[in-house]
Amino acid sequence: MRIAMVGTGYVGLVSGACFSDFGHHVTCLDKDESKIETLQSGGVPIFEPGLDQLIAANVKEKRLDFAVDPKKAMHEADVIFIAVGTPSRRGDGHADLKYVYAAAEEIAGLISGFTVIVTKSTVPVGTGDAVEEIIRKTNPNAEFAVVSNPEFLREGAAIEDFKRPDRVVIGCEHDRARDVMRELYRPLFLNETPIVFTSRRTSELIKYAANAFLATKITFINEMATLCEKVGADIQQVAKGIGLDKRIGGKFLNAGPGYGGSCFPKDTLALVKTANDAGAPVRIVETVVSVNDDRKKAMARKIIDAMGGDATGMTVAVLGLAFKPNTDDMRDSPSLDIIPALLEAGAKVQAYDPESMHEAKEMMPDITYCENAYDAISGADALAILTEWDQFRALDIDRIKASLKTPLIVDLRNIYDPKALRDQGIVYHGIGR
Ligand code: UDX
Repeated sequence: MRIAMVGTGYVGLVSGACFSDFGHHVTCLDKDESKIETLQSGGVPIFEPGLDQLIAANVKEKRLDFAVDPKKAMHEADVIFIAVGTPSRRGDGHADLKYVYAAAEEIAGLISGFTVIVTKSTVPVGTGDAVEEIIRKTNPNAEFAVVSNPEFLREGAAIEDFKRPDRVVIGCEHDRARDVMRELYRPLFLNETPIVFTSRRTSELIKYAANAFLATKITFINEMATLCEKVGADIQQVAKGIGLDKRIGGKFLNAGPGYGGSCFPKDTLALVKTANDAGAPVRIVETVVSVNDDRKKAMARKIIDAMGGDATGMTVAVLGLAFKPNTDDMRDSPSLDIIPALLEAGAKVQAYDPESMHEAKEMMPDITYCENAYDAISGADALAILTEWDQFRALDIDRIKASLKTPLIVDLRNIYDPKALRDQGIVYHGIGR
């Protein structure tokens, strides 16, 4: 089939590359000429493990190409995906749909023949109806159907999550469109991936409910971690002990500094708004949002307390700036709350992150960026681990001890064993143990 993918961000580029790897022909579109030029010259504007090889292989097979001008791709497309950004609107947390609506208007004037228009971006319940109305108004003669097909891709594991999803959710009330979507996802059918066909509004809500539930699960274990610290229990064991219950499940029970990223923070806020507007407030999710925000802010205090309560003139080494490992994405990363609070408390910060420093420098120009973990650690009064990159998991503890002014480690991702480090003379503070 011929696909036009509108938007070449984390979702559009991964989805486009994976659909082309299924054998479809995909044109990824973007208004940002520099992004398209980068892609056309073989570069990849985002860091996602394996994406560069996947794109190169499919460009070589002429199944994947990139364009700024949407005319040709939309004219020829059987399916057009809207995978543009839906950021939180300034101030009120609503999802900002201006890019979605602009895409719908553009699509309306360019499609020919029956075309399925798919909202892949995370959009509030009812957006599919609005997109349908925009297209119908703009081009009353258009033959089309609007379908919801939310993504459940985790950054850093996006290709795996696309190719081996737990399920595909398709919100569709049009028989011909359903057949098109079945054909589109046939390669996943073959390996028995559950395909959930439902109404468009139900599909839109499934996406928000999934992310809000995951954010709730993480916030729950984070609150248990704080309780563990007070009562002398071990959060890793608590997570294991409850996670073995199949009704709970062991995933997303890693206590940390709070969740970040481009999805959980904005999707929980958008769901709260949708629910309030509908007169069915989601008070649990509202509490999750505020508990998570407080937690990220409280982490700086944890580091300062570990340093004796006053960070004035002290230097903190920070390992990890991205909101999670295997991504360069800084959006809503806990480091964006923790580091400014450390600076505010009079500390200096020297940091290292394998992928996200190019972005972090724009957002936090007042810290020192180092070439590697040991450079960041050298001469610091304390080491704080904020992101659990694999390369931070087996550092040379004796070398760290020798290069820190005081052998103090605050491990906000529990990647080290407290006893082992204490036996090596490290003053170790973890999360929830
Ligand atoms: C999430 C959803 O997982 C994905 O399905 C959806 O499509 C997009 O949003 P992502 O934001 O990329 O994916 O990252 P994820 O791996 O879910 O982590 C989100 C945040 O939760 C990160 O800040 C991470 O550090 C934190 N987290 C995750 C924890 O603190 N503990 C955990 O056990 C898991």
